[in-house]
Parts: sequence; C-alpha cells; structure tokens
Amino acid sequence: MMNRIEIIRQYADGIIENMPKADERKEAYIHTYGVAECCALLAGKRGPDAELALISGLLHDLYAYKSGSYSCHSQSGAEMARAALKHMKITNDDEQKIILSAIYHHANKDLVHDEYDEILKDADVLQPFLNDAGSRIFHLALPRLNHLRNELGISANPAVYGSTQQNNTSRAGIRQQLADIAEMLASRKICGKKSNQDFMDLIHYYPEASAFNELIHGWCAAFVYHCCIKAGMELPIKSPPASCRFAGVGAWYEWGKAMGYCHFVKDGFIPDRGDIVIYDNIIPAENKPEDSLWHDHIGVVLDCRPDQLKVAEGNINNKNIAGILMREQDKTIGCYLRIPDDYQYDGWKYDYKTGQVRIEKY
Ligand SMILES: [Fe+2]
Repeated sequence: MMNRIEIIRQYADGIIENMPKADERKEAYIHTYGVAECCALLAGKRGPDAELALISGLLHDLYAYKSGSYSCHSQSGAEMARAALKHMKITNDDEQKIILSAIYHHANKDLVHDEYDEILKDADVLQPFLNDAGSRIFHLALPRLNHLRNELGISANPAVYGSTQQNNTSRAGIRQQLADIAEMLASRKICGKKSNQDFMDLIHYYPEASAFNELIHGWCAAFVYHCCIKAGMELPIKSPPASCRFAGVGAWYEWGKAMGYCHFVKDGFIPDRGDIVIYDNIIPAENKPEDSLWHDHIGVVLDCRPDQLKVAEGNINNKNIAGILMREQDKTIGCYLRIPDDYQYDGWKYDYKTGQVRIEKY
C-alpha cells in the first residue's frame, strides 16, 4: 500500500505535470518539493509533526498552478485541498484542519498565526532563498527571512525588492467593469460545451476533474463569479461564512448578507447597472430538481427600467446558454447585491480554524 505522502505526491505531480509551460512546470516542482522539505526541516527543529507540515508544503500552491492565477490562491487553495483530502480519506478531521489552515494563511507573511501556519509561511520564504541566495526577497517577507537566518545560522544576505509604495492606479468602478464584462460575455452567447472556450474559462476556477459534469447543470453563479474576477475583484472560490463555493447561488446570498451588500426592494432599494440580482423560484419547477433552494438563479443588472430589468446571465432558464434578456421586476426578485466601488477582499483577516478576526502583525 502507498503511504500517504506518496498519495499526496502523486496528486501534486498530476497537477504540476499538466501546467502548459515547461519552465513554469520546472519552477513548480522545485518550489513545491523545496517548500515541503523546508516544512519538514522546521517542524523537526521546532517540534510539531513533520509529516503534516510536509503535506501542507506539497499542497500549498497547487491552486495557483491549476488555475494559472495567484489571486487569493491561498484561500482558494485551502478549499481545493479540502475537497482533495476528503476524497483521499488519508487524514482525520484534526489533521485536515491543521493542513488547510496553513494553506489558507500562507500568503499573509506579515501576519502571525498558529505553529504549522508559521512553518509553511517560513518555508515558503526560505525555499527561494536556499535555491538561489541571490534571488530577491519581497520586503514584507524580510523580517521572517532574517529570523530564519538567525534560527538556522545562515550568514548569506538576501537582496530585497518591493519596498517602494505601490500607487493605486485609478480605474473605473468595480460595478461599471462588472456590467461591461458581463454584457460582453453574455452577448457571445456562451454555451456549456467542452468545445466552447468561453465556457471552459468560466469553469476553470474549479479544480476538480468533475467540474464540467457538475457545473453543466447550473452555471449561472459561476458566470457571475467569472465576471467578477474579470472585473478585477479579488475573491476566492469560497469565502466563509458562505457554506458553499461561488459556483452556487446560495454562496452569493450568504456572502452578500455577511458583507452588508444585500439589498431588498421592499426597503426601497432601486437597482442599477452593475448590481447582482438573485432570483427566487424563477426556474419553473419542472426544470429543476425537487427540494431545490428558493434562491435559484443569479445575474448581473445592465439596466433598470420602470418594471423591467435588463440583465446578463449564464445558463438562462437552465437552457445551458448565456445571454442578455429582460426580466420582470416582480416576486421572482429575491434581492440585489451592490458591491462597493472601494471593495477589497478581506477574508484573509479571519482565522481559518475559529472564523474569528485575527490580525496579529509579524
Ligand atoms: Fe509557495
């Protein structure tokens, strides 16, 4: 029987070997295995379980390799690893919590979390430095690297970059961009087929091999998520307290409520271009499974007329096609989400294990 490290290695290799560019594949192997070994080294030195630390290292960047993007890759990566570990059945609940927490927090090098979380962050900083002492270290990771050099007795000096302030380039508001992108994509009449590149782009955030077969039956929410990402929003595939991924309408409702973005017509809210509309029981009962949720469809508002909405939607009426259409402003409107123009992703501030705000500076 394969030991569990071997099972995780095969899983990691399977993702890395499918990366399209040879040089990026090579980097990914070096970084993944290097970080995993640094994790084991630091765990061995500091006391906790080296195998769990090693597993967190093997899994930590796989979402970025699979999706091709580092935006929120630590939070999306924890969700990807959650599904993968559940499927593998080689870790218990406590072990999973430790591994997933480390992945969730690993991008926040300027914050302090628990012991295994810190081991992974340290390993992620140490590996590039060990691999090439001349490689440049991001300024926010420097205090961490200096502690590590001290702890391990390394005398080489790192080169530092990124110490100048980033200037925020002004750009159109998030809702304007969301509406423009939704309008453009919907007008292409995307349909849910493997041969449709727009559709494959829209589902590529969901890393499991089963993604196509699962999403083909309901991709309105995945369409909205894709538009949000294309509009420049930072948002992982799942964000607590939402209990499911943004590929499900329910996640938008739960997340929107928690963020204070949720508005109701009964309170006098007037929708506008760029708002997200969540519908109630708009899909005819015969077209959807029994005991489906009441919030059963979602789209992006393009224009608001006295009684009608112009909307861009994916999987209109469960017909597996995207498009622009008019909807009645009637009882099928559940609520609207209005994402503020100064929106910034802040899910990183919640501790993975407790769900409580935890901002402890390194
Ligand atoms: Fe990394």
